[in-house]
Amino acid sequence: MSAHGTPIPMTSHRAEPLTGVAEVPGDKSISHRSIILGALAVGETKITGLLEGEDVLDTAKAMRAMGAEVTKHEDGSWSVHGVGVGGLAEPDQVIDCGNSGTGVRLIMGVMATSPITATFTGDASLNKRPMARVTDPLALFGAQSVGRSEGRLPMTIVGAADPTPVRYTVPVPSAQVKSAVLLAGLNAPGKTVVIEKEATRDHSERMLAGFGAEITVEDTNEGRVITLTGQPELQAQQIAVPRDPSSAAFPVCAALITPGSDVLVPGIGLNPTRAGLFYTLQDMGADLTFENMREEGGEPVADLRAKYSPGMKGIEVPPERAASMIDEYPVLSVVASFATGKTMMAGVKELRVKESDRIDAMARGLRANGVTVDEGDDWWSVEGMGPEGVPGGGTCESFLDHRIAMSFMVMGMGAQKPVTVDDSTPIATSFPIFTPLMTSLGARLETQA
Ligand code: S3P
Repeated sequence: MSAHGTPIPMTSHRAEPLTGVAEVPGDKSISHRSIILGALAVGETKITGLLEGEDVLDTAKAMRAMGAEVTKHEDGSWSVHGVGVGGLAEPDQVIDCGNSGTGVRLIMGVMATSPITATFTGDASLNKRPMARVTDPLALFGAQSVGRSEGRLPMTIVGAADPTPVRYTVPVPSAQVKSAVLLAGLNAPGKTVVIEKEATRDHSERMLAGFGAEITVEDTNEGRVITLTGQPELQAQQIAVPRDPSSAAFPVCAALITPGSDVLVPGIGLNPTRAGLFYTLQDMGADLTFENMREEGGEPVADLRAKYSPGMKGIEVPPERAASMIDEYPVLSVVASFATGKTMMAGVKELRVKESDRIDAMARGLRANGVTVDEGDDWWSVEGMGPEGVPGGGTCESFLDHRIAMSFMVMGMGAQKPVTVDDSTPIATSFPIFTPLMTSLGARLETQA
């Protein structure tokens, strides 16, 4: 299977020492939200640093289909002319969100309290993923949905013509579910309350406040209680999207396992709801430092410096850190195979419903490269083989999952023998410049087109 029909295998050979500056693209989560909130604002929202990955471009198409004007300028910046809260038009075609769970779940939320009907679909990966986690709370607003068995896409949502606000406790740690409910609450009169027991990425809350919505967040015994007042007039904004910590993870981890490396990854957002991987790597003994700590657009930002770290030790990753590094477990498991001792990752059931079942996908690929992995329903562990002890030489399936493909390419940079993935095309969903960027640092990546 491939994101584009024809799979393109890629092989990562043992790298030269990785050196230089890795300028990773804009944050995927913030890019989706910039377009969606821009589409609901009055006036022109200007965005710089937008991630131009396939996931975000699909969200731009979807918001155009609902009446917003989304334009890219010659200088690389983007503008969104919004339709105002409650002003979405009914799309006249099926909305294809490609590979993006964030795109489809947030857009379902945004249209669920408007009197329009929309049908959503995606690629083979997205059409397997659970949507009931979003349609259940949207039904409380009065929206109806009909999809395939077990709440899978393709799915049609009939928005509520006369929505009522809701109070909803999110049953799984999911920023996508939280955000879908908040976005639906925007067009419901009165106060919508979302409660999360575990804090997940808070970009929606921050950005809603930035666009002028009335939103409060309280830490209580019940959890984080977020209260949004519906039907605000959102004001167009200027947004500078910070660079994505989830993409920074790849050059950082590659440097830690490749002898002689010293890489600077500048301008990375260290929002505490996103930065868990970097603290985990430091706990393992990685030579990873935060330089030039500063604040940009209300977010803590630093330049990350990662150097080859042959002394890393396996650890038990604190389960309470899971939400803040949920997308980084695949590449962490690669680093863990180059450490000494076992790394235990527990409380990570959500990994089973990402773009792929990421525990299964990584376990298969790590084993194919000579690494011992043990797994249960919501945990897995990796036996470290030491800095020079990972055999490599295997071919891994990427299961239409960008982070699986990139993680195994990182593995090949430090392993004894080359590592191959059957399909590298999914990388374009979140990190379209991965191959030239990593090559410029010293990686040796070869595609078999
Ligand atoms: C995201 C939330 C996370 C994450 C995804 C992006 C977001 O998913 O895995 O890549 O932008 O809200 P969940 O909220 O389902 O955990």
